[in-house]
Amino acid sequence: MIGDKKVLFSGMQATGNLTLGNYLGALKNWVTLCDEYECFYSVVDLHSITVRQDPSELRQRARKLLTLYIAAGLDPKKNCLYYQSHVSGHAELAWILNCFTYMGELNRMTQFKDKSAKHADNINAGLFTYPVLMAADILLYQADVVPVGKDQLQHLEITRDIAQRFNAIYGDVFTIPEPYLGKTGAKIMSLQDPDKKMSKSDENANASVYLMDDPDAIMRKFKRAVTDSEGCVRYCEEQPGIRNLMDIYGACTGKTSAEIEKEFDGKGYGDFKMAVGESVIAVLKPLQERFAELEKDKGYLDGIIKENAEKAEYYALKTLRKVQKKVGFPERVR
Ligand code: TRP
Repeated sequence: MIGDKKVLFSGMQATGNLTLGNYLGALKNWVTLCDEYECFYSVVDLHSITVRQDPSELRQRARKLLTLYIAAGLDPKKNCLYYQSHVSGHAELAWILNCFTYMGELNRMTQFKDKSAKHADNINAGLFTYPVLMAADILLYQADVVPVGKDQLQHLEITRDIAQRFNAIYGDVFTIPEPYLGKTGAKIMSLQDPDKKMSKSDENANASVYLMDDPDAIMRKFKRAVTDSEGCVRYCEEQPGIRNLMDIYGACTGKTSAEIEKEFDGKGYGDFKMAVGESVIAVLKPLQERFAELEKDKGYLDGIIKENAEKAEYYALKTLRKVQKKVGFPERVR
């Protein structure tokens, strides 16, 4: 708890471009969470170097991601938006937690298995202990809730196991985090394969709408979006493509599927796709304009980054000092 609020922590990797799916499915809904939770959103650059990165590109992407979060409506006065590498407590706690994590546990992590298959030439120790660093991120802020996708649930589970193991030895040091189960946004699927989630790493550029796409690109992608064979705009099992477009249109306009069906009664897929494209453009335009303004204002952004890193560090140090004392490191002489 911070004050009378529960703590929410989430980390995001600055890889690839954020998609409409990231926005409608997560980001858009995070904007109001700060009323209920003390929110920390970290750009997890320490995690990123478990696979090779181009240094200047990594730096640029990290800054772009932070800027996008602000542009999407996360108020940096109410949400702590910061770079993981600016708070050294993440790495320090990760080391300590490494000593409370078993090789066997880490060996079971499916993401490690997937990533080491994908990067067979660089199966480094960081990739293996990645979940411990993630545990450190979460436990450092005594987070109560963590909004995570399905792919990260196993990492949250190991975080809980590590925290419970530590608490069993040293007393109540860590809050045991839960997955955030509150209202989440629409689950947006690929425009080319509606059985697959829209992903920032999709190789088919037509499958995903990126937050920075210009109006022409957006319209083009929706015109090419895969549809179904019934020929009418109806929300049903047999029409996964249309269902996805209806979810997008609904999320952008606030309309229910019944309202959308009525609006396009007697009309074909073509009209509907145009309307979906236009609704997306209308949502992304103000976001893109804010992004451009923020990018120009280097001083403002630098100030936010500094302020928020200091805020994060304050809470991180509180936990870290407690942990260091518990495990038996000598006290600092003041
Ligand atoms: N591993 C997460 C991902 O790849 C990112 C992440 C790092 C994270 N630390 C976290 C997510 C802490 C939630 C909480 O998506």
